[in-house]
Amino acid sequence: MLRTKIAVFVSGGGTNLQALIDAQKSGLLQSGEIALVLASNDKAYALTRAAENNIPSAVVVRKDFATQLEYEERVKEVLTEYGIELIVLAGFMSILSENFTSAYPKRIINIHPSLIPSFCGKGYYGLKVHEAALAYGVKVTGATVHFVNEIPDGGEILLQKAVEVKEGDTPEVLQRRVMEEAEWVLLPRATEQVAKDLQKGR
Ligand code: GAR
Repeated sequence: MLRTKIAVFVSGGGTNLQALIDAQKSGLLQSGEIALVLASNDKAYALTRAAENNIPSAVVVRKDFATQLEYEERVKEVLTEYGIELIVLAGFMSILSENFTSAYPKRIINIHPSLIPSFCGKGYYGLKVHEAALAYGVKVTGATVHFVNEIPDGGEILLQKAVEVKEGDTPEVLQRRVMEEAEWVLLPRATEQVAKDLQKGR
């Protein structure tokens, strides 16, 4: 059966992209193939990871376009060019409007570094999520993979995993633990699940 064609959207280090690449190599991700890495900026280290693994990549920068609509139309064009069927947001820091998300219903998933509905929505991304969790004093945090719709971090939850907050944690230390114990485990698993469902539905 043909594998579901996946685009991974990235902005930074791309450790979640790496987890997906490793899952593809180990066979954990078998119903889909990473056909494209799309970066929001040309400095993203994730682009190096894509190149090292012979995965095609594209860079589309929001500020190169006059409007959000024109930006999103360009992204859609690139996705069509590569025949993309599933989009995985893996640390993607550019905003996608309803114009975009509604074009791919139940075909966009995102990894968020907290247990939604805590510490999510507008302004909660990257290290800020862990800073907020530590400031609040929660003893348990985690990660969530969810479908993406027009509400920031508001789509249907696919998978969640809890991670312990430890005495003396800094945002950086907590971020690393959440990645190791939750994100890198959940994202490949959820990607395989959705890729498999799309493959069956074809
Ligand atoms: C990850 O922790 C991811 O959960 C988070 O950004 C980091 C990207 O790291 N995403 C968000 O905060 C989305 N709201 P990576 O580039 O090493 O995968």
